[in-house]
Amino acid sequence: MKKRVFSGIQPTGSIYIGNYLGAIRHWVATQAEFENIFCIVDLHAISIPQEPETLKAKTREIAALLLASGVDLKQSAVFVQSHISAHAELAWILSCFIPMGWMQRMTQFKEKSQKQKESVPVGLFIYPALMAADILLYQTDLVPVGEDQKQHLELTRDVARRFNSFYGQTFTLPEPSIPKLGARIMALNDPTKKMSKSEIRSAHAIHLLDSSDEIRWKIMSAVTDSRREIRFDASRPGIYNLLTIYQLFTGLSTSEIEARFEGKGYAEFKRELAEVIIESLQPLQSRYRALIAEANYVDSVLAEGASKVRSIAEKTLATVREKIELGTR
Ligand code: TYM
Repeated sequence: MKKRVFSGIQPTGSIYIGNYLGAIRHWVATQAEFENIFCIVDLHAISIPQEPETLKAKTREIAALLLASGVDLKQSAVFVQSHISAHAELAWILSCFIPMGWMQRMTQFKEKSQKQKESVPVGLFIYPALMAADILLYQTDLVPVGEDQKQHLELTRDVARRFNSFYGQTFTLPEPSIPKLGARIMALNDPTKKMSKSEIRSAHAIHLLDSSDEIRWKIMSAVTDSRREIRFDASRPGIYNLLTIYQLFTGLSTSEIEARFEGKGYAEFKRELAEVIIESLQPLQSRYRALIAEANYVDSVLAEGASKVRSIAEKTLATVREKIELGTR
């Protein structure tokens, strides 16, 4: 029996190379080894305000991008979180087993809520309970994610353990699967910060659908330092981040890359990096364009994905309800 992989991505903003290098390419690379479920988490997305039409368009866009990135429907199911209502129901139940203190420790919440203080939606605070529900509903073995999700995965394991100890074995304990390289791609305009969702036209992130000119401009204006040598040196975050991106797209080793740019300047390296990214993204972008022109096809993939996995989620939820003795059914 193959182990089960589950992972998710939010349909907000535009997918950027951080999502791709930290998560999506690993989903694709290991698909044949596992039984895979990939979820577009629209209920998570509404924990910050979303324009309805944009949410709908982004959900489709992400589905098409996942397929264009190589997610293979023979090996993987792709579906939308809100299509399976068990996610919301289990999230509520789990939130009753999560102490406030555990939630209060979540660093992503602290970062995301900094500016809003009292007006922060409660949904943003209990976001990790919904994420735990996503994972636990499918009796997941492995969760491939970037480093920023590690703490949420720990909370997921903690609540699963707690529930299992109250009611007996109910949930599989999921293991995070975090890549050694690329788990934390940094922002181009500030390499001390993680690359994250950003304005399309800012030089913060490269989006998977950026044009060649945008990619060139963003890479050429990426922040580095005043040194010259092109070396993998983690104490120089700007050049280190760019070298990591170069390595992930080319598959070359650290020493091969350092040798290639020996005696060359940052500008030359950046020019080559931009071309490597453009070339790597081109096939994905053209597959995307073909797919997004077929909106009905993309929608049918999502409907089929949900019907393929719904019974797994419903079975887990039924067990949970029975264990707690909810209702009189
Ligand atoms: P999201 O939509 O923010 O990101 C999707 C995936 O991309 C990874 N990632 C990065 N990896 C490396 N460097 C970066 N700069 C970078 N930025 C993002 C994320 O780690 C993630 O793997 N809460 C999740 C979505 C979610 C989920 C789940 C994930 C909901 N339910 C269940 C796994 C399992 C999120 O907001 O991801």
